[in-house]
Amino acid sequence: MNFELTEEQQMLQTMARDFAQKEVLPKAPEIDQNHRHPAELVARMAELGLLGVAVPEAYGGSGMDNVCYVLAMEEISRACASTGVIMSVNNSLVCDPILRFGTEAQKKEFLTPLASGKKLGCFALSEPEAGSDAAAQRTTAVRDGDAWVLQGTKNWITNGPVADVVVLFAMNDREAGHRGISAFIIPMDTPGVRCGEPDDKLGIRGSKSSQIFLDDARLPADALLGEVGGGFKVAMSTLDGGRIGIAAQALGIARACLEDALDYSLQRKTFNKPIVKHQAISFKLADMATEVDAARLLTLRAAWLKDNGRPYSKAAAMAKLYASDVANRAAREAIQIFGGNGYVTEYPVERHFRDAKITEIYEGTSEIQRLVISGHLVKEHT
Ligand code: CAA
Repeated sequence: MNFELTEEQQMLQTMARDFAQKEVLPKAPEIDQNHRHPAELVARMAELGLLGVAVPEAYGGSGMDNVCYVLAMEEISRACASTGVIMSVNNSLVCDPILRFGTEAQKKEFLTPLASGKKLGCFALSEPEAGSDAAAQRTTAVRDGDAWVLQGTKNWITNGPVADVVVLFAMNDREAGHRGISAFIIPMDTPGVRCGEPDDKLGIRGSKSSQIFLDDARLPADALLGEVGGGFKVAMSTLDGGRIGIAAQALGIARACLEDALDYSLQRKTFNKPIVKHQAISFKLADMATEVDAARLLTLRAAWLKDNGRPYSKAAAMAKLYASDVANRAAREAIQIFGGNGYVTEYPVERHFRDAKITEIYEGTSEIQRLVISGHLVKEHT
């Protein structure tokens, strides 16, 4: 066993940390306050190769591994969780399925501009009546000659209002249940495709999400991603990778809580000494640091398994379950350490508290992660 990062992994980590601290962190409060999509930071991430980290260079990516992706996601999310999820969706939920299931023509047309950051993607699985129960799709895809005609509504689509391309799921055969779901790659300017108003959210306010309405959207036959009826497997296997990205986002938020609380507790004095000298505070910091490390190890392990062609569905669910729990606990404790100052927007921890919550919800709630993990446990023991 070797816990050392390779030279390439260290280089990427240093580059991402430098960018995050110098360019992302100073803007994070303003992005949050103004609910602003950080277009200029997305453009910089494109220049730095962060929008297609694990995509081969031949398709516009950086040709690195998923460990690199996790390291970069942690750094960006430590500075700004909104910017982190924009990066995560493009990498994990859009580039990854096109790389794994796309035809050569689809890779050239869509993957190359997405991985190089010339275009931005979104992933549309959820619907008003299909969140945790992802197979309960109501959006329909009907074959009409050579075309597919799509009708329906997608919900909470991260990057939706700012995306150029969507990987979208629809039911082509209701009788067949989850085997009647197909995946499509759709340019967002296709007639009949329209976004709703951006969602007004508790946290990650710089990340734009909305409904997507499909109103007789006509797609060419080659818009299909993978096999007819193979969409549910595309979605589930994509989410396995996505959960590694969200675990890394949660890890970044948890680290922000720890670092901000540690800084504060060294400066803030009560009863004639810095509050870090009070055991009530220092023990909280010790627990936060231990949990942040454990979350990082779980997340890196899941990425390593993916990089090495091993099964990683259970490890990804464990990493997301634990890291999102850690982020929320760390945010709560950070506010407690900051006291009254933790409750006002002048300090960063109330933002971390609001940003942390979504990591327990999207890309599968914590309850769904437990379902996935327990499902694997049963399979492994029978
Ligand atoms: N990889 C490949 N195939 C998989 C799979 C995986 N990880 N998991 C399941 N499948 C396959 C099964 O093998 C099965 O195939 P067969 O029919 O050939 O046997 C099929 O899928 C159905 O499996 P299940 O019976 O387990 O499916 P289910 O309907 O019970 O659902 C679930 C399982 C885990 C609950 C699933 O619905 C799920 O993950 N729900 C959560 C959805 C989710 O994460 N949504 C996130 C939306 S995207 C988002 O949040 C993005 C964002 O904003 C940032």
